[in-house]
Amino acid sequence: MRASLDINGLLLLLCGVNLADTLGYKPVIIVHGLFDGPKQFLMMSRLIQEAHPGTNVSVIDLYDNMASLTPLWVQVQGFKKTLYPIMQEAEHGVHLICFSQGGLICRGLLSTLPDHNVQSFISLSSPQAGQYGVGQKWSICNFWNDPHQRERFLKSSNYLALLNGERPHREMTEWRKNFLRINKLVLIGGPDDGVITPWESSQFGFYDFNETIVEMRNQEWYVRDSFGLKTLHARGDLALYVLSGVKHSYWHSNETVFRGCIEEWLT
Ligand SMILES: *[C@@H]1O[C@H](CO)[C@@H](O)[C@H](O)[C@H]1NC(C)=O
Ligand SMILES: *[C@@H]1O[C@H](CO)[C@@H](O)[C@H](O)[C@H]1NC(C)=O
Ligand SMILES: *[C@@H]1O[C@H](CO)[C@@H](O)[C@H](O)[C@H]1NC(C)=O
Repeated sequence: MRASLDINGLLLLLCGVNLADTLGYKPVIIVHGLFDGPKQFLMMSRLIQEAHPGTNVSVIDLYDNMASLTPLWVQVQGFKKTLYPIMQEAEHGVHLICFSQGGLICRGLLSTLPDHNVQSFISLSSPQAGQYGVGQKWSICNFWNDPHQRERFLKSSNYLALLNGERPHREMTEWRKNFLRINKLVLIGGPDDGVITPWESSQFGFYDFNETIVEMRNQEWYVRDSFGLKTLHARGDLALYVLSGVKHSYWHSNETVFRGCIEEWLT
């Protein structure tokens, strides 16, 4: 028994890379969230390796922990430098799993990288429509959204309002085209998250002035299709998952979440 396990392990080691090639598992790149780093993604890397042996998983070791407060456009540039070579080496493209704040960094990246080859963009409990209720500081200002201060959001947000096309700018068409190069957008989140506020932001929903949730399809930028979300949806390339019982810092280590919402998009 022991011997056969060892042989399997050895075969996996020897054949891992080729096996991944043969089975067509694309490299997976993981972008962490606020106040965390690669350490928090060991479990997720293991789950990916178990499901798809030989997959080359890179958890990007950049802007970890306190450094994750760096303004998001600066982080986008940094992540770009690290991710781009990985993409270039991946003939059939890569998959991107981005957690929490990382999901916004990934959107910035996908919008501004004209020749990216990201196939699945998995947004794991990420405040895609903004975050309300956390101190307005540092990187967080870049996606802070206050339904009572629309004017201020539109004027001061030089990140999310630009990505959403809520603040019109010259590159909108270009950014939309770049973003639409992805094959699949997978949105995962849920009501017991405890950090993302409102949690519906993980599904592109957000509060109106009266703090009533306006769901994705009624958001102005969706209706106007200003960054391609409506097109992705119409193409059948948007997968939405709402799961209860998962607190914010457990999304990436929860096996049920991985098996049910992530695994199938990593082939
Ligand atoms: C995994 O990907 C990285 C980044 O492209 C590369 O440097 C490394 O050699 C790859 N590892 C294997 C085992 O293929
Ligand atoms: C918000 O509440 C105010 C006051 O109750 C009401 O007049 C207004 O119609 C509401 N707006 C929306 C968008 O529901
Ligand atoms: C894992 O996810 C399942 C399904 O959403 C949930 O019921 C369970 O509570 C989660 N466990 C943890 C530790 O997050």
